[in-house]
Amino acid sequence: MAAGFSGGQVLTGLRLATMAAPGTGTIPDGVIAIRDGHIAFAGPAEELPREMARWPGRDYGGRLATPALIDCHTHLVFGGHRAREFALRLEGASYEEIARAGGGIRSTVTATRSASDGELLAGALTRLDAMIAEGVATVEIKSGYGLDLETELRMLRVARALGQARQVRVVTTCLAAHALPEEYTGRSDAYIDLVCDRILPAAAAEGLADAVDGFCEGIAFSPEQMARVFAAARALGLPVKLHAEQLSNLGGAALAARHGALSADHLEYLDAAGVQAMAAAGTVAVLLPGAFYTLRETQAPPVALLREAGVPIAVATDANPGSSPMTSLILALNMACTLLRLTPDEALGGATREAARALGLGAETGTIEAGKAADIAIWNIETPEELAYRIGDNPLHQRLTGGRA
Ligand code: NIG
Ligand code: FE
Repeated sequence: MAAGFSGGQVLTGLRLATMAAPGTGTIPDGVIAIRDGHIAFAGPAEELPREMARWPGRDYGGRLATPALIDCHTHLVFGGHRAREFALRLEGASYEEIARAGGGIRSTVTATRSASDGELLAGALTRLDAMIAEGVATVEIKSGYGLDLETELRMLRVARALGQARQVRVVTTCLAAHALPEEYTGRSDAYIDLVCDRILPAAAAEGLADAVDGFCEGIAFSPEQMARVFAAARALGLPVKLHAEQLSNLGGAALAARHGALSADHLEYLDAAGVQAMAAAGTVAVLLPGAFYTLRETQAPPVALLREAGVPIAVATDANPGSSPMTSLILALNMACTLLRLTPDEALGGATREAARALGLGAETGTIEAGKAADIAIWNIETPEELAYRIGDNPLHQRLTGGRA
């Protein structure tokens, strides 16, 4: 940012989609004043405060500005790939059958444990760069392919390193309760002991985890086991979230809500009671259309019920080597509309305002409003709907994080 006399700059000639609330629409002749990395003013040009009108300006020729995108659910750090399983699923094997036969998450655990830090970083950087190229300024990154103390911490350190390597805000999540590692076969409670007594405390002590997540499912952990993980997280002062109701209904979302979870994610098999519990707790529903698509799921999450109950809805890529080998958040917006029936406004709000809320960052980013970080995406399109509408198109003109291009 140009260090003017007042230290500010003004972006002019913008069509502004502030995404401050659902259905806000756009401001045709908008400006954004930025100072110290934060938004000082955003609104119609004629309302720009006089002292800011003296700051150096940059004209954007009528382009659309939205909040920079936020991917609030990813597994970006992992070793290897699972293209073989993709082929097996096409031959009829289910995600659960592959997992029970020792493939799935466990095969990525093997590849991740044997990868060096440098290899993990290089692989994740390629994926992160694809996201940044689409206007993502904040990304959540989970562990969960280590499933032992050393590798879980290594994954989280690599996630932190990604935030140093690029101009992007990285939020880390410890997902040690993702699957049962092979060496604990038949002893899943003992593995939960390891998670609660060793892995989470170590991650917290090193400042490596901003939140704690788990996978509550027949092929993973029970609600009782997840309740133990949540209690351990709370004792460490860490917020929680959960992969819930992806393949079946175990009441995971309601459990997460009772623990004050930031979000419950996937939710294809969520029922009305789960929706009500989430609404009461203010837990965000994170929809992951890439996993829905990849697993050829036919039961969609109960979007109408979520909407009716006022549950905030976010959209993310779930980028991972198994159920969602996708790094395009823009494509996720399209899928959220076409497959899950979100409106384009809901989809974009889900990858900005509500995604920020799902990360506990609602006061810092996710909308274009005075006081928030100047995390802004400027696009070569005219309306916000166009972002979700085309397939395979990347209309990004420029991404600003904290006001910096
Ligand atoms: O979000 N549901 C569990 N975890 C991931 C998939 C991980 C994997 O298959 O490697 C998900 O879909
Ligand atoms: Fe996931």
